[in-house]
Amino acid sequence: MYYLGIDIGSLSCDAVLIDENETVLASSVIPTGARNVEAIQKVKTHVLDMAGIQESELKAVISTGYGRNRVDKRLKAVTEITCHARGIKASLEGTGLLIDIGGQDSKAIKLDTDGKVKDFAMNDKCAAGTGRFLEAMARALQVPIEEMSELDHGATKNLTLSSMCTVFAESEVVSLIADGVETNEIVNGLNRAIASRTISLVKRVAPELSNESVAMSGGVAKNSGVIRALNQLMGKEIKVPEQPDTIGALGAALIALEKSK
Ligand SMILES: Nc1ncnc2c1ncn2[C@@H]1O[C@H](COP(=O)(O)OP(=O)(O)OP(=O)(O)O)[C@@H](O)[C@H]1O
Ligand SMILES: [Mg+2]
Repeated sequence: MYYLGIDIGSLSCDAVLIDENETVLASSVIPTGARNVEAIQKVKTHVLDMAGIQESELKAVISTGYGRNRVDKRLKAVTEITCHARGIKASLEGTGLLIDIGGQDSKAIKLDTDGKVKDFAMNDKCAAGTGRFLEAMARALQVPIEEMSELDHGATKNLTLSSMCTVFAESEVVSLIADGVETNEIVNGLNRAIASRTISLVKRVAPELSNESVAMSGGVAKNSGVIRALNQLMGKEIKVPEQPDTIGALGAALIALEKSK
């Protein structure tokens, strides 16, 4: 039998399919778009087709993320915090602090030695410091989001942005471009702004930033420029699992397996 985890976030809809041995058979990430029920169906069909499995062979489905209550035939809807914690335990055992930055939310999650959630802190409703903020800045710079990872190379000026508000920061980026400031300096400034906001969040659950092993999940973990800025500002190495954007869906699939036992 097979177990499916679906994470319907504000920007991406992710699915992970596992078997009873916790082996990942297929995973997929697609845009959530305006019609999340369609995205759910599409991502589900995608992983089932990839693994060559019929829907009737699914023993349990667990959903998570913003749209988690929109998934039908689910065993349960579980919070993202629980699912990300479970997913990171399977990917990077021993993580004491998990940072999840998605399209709309950023979270710092403190874990105990068993990988269970001890405490967490979340951003307010504002897009500052999230993936959506970075997407708006990438648009202003006219570069694809996937290229943002490498655009900070060679920056030396430690440029500071005066506002983290997405709307103000966007016009500031446009002005910087008009003033001839190099793209790498702007991107580096953006990455450090995200990193410093993230560290404020982290300090709410781990004031000392002590010996904890720190990992990051969510789509923004694919932006290595942000990871570099975080490493530098935190003074320690942040571990990134192989597929950071499907950690929530992986956790959901593992919970589906556990709850069916
Ligand atoms: N290849 C990539 N390079 C750089 N950044 C990326 C890449 N892929 C995704 N991202 C970032 O990840 C963000 C989306 O993250 P994620 O898929 O975790 O969001 P989500 O789970 O839908 O959001 P939320 O959990 O807030 O509802 C994008 O806004 C973008 O900034
Ligand atoms: Mg998410």
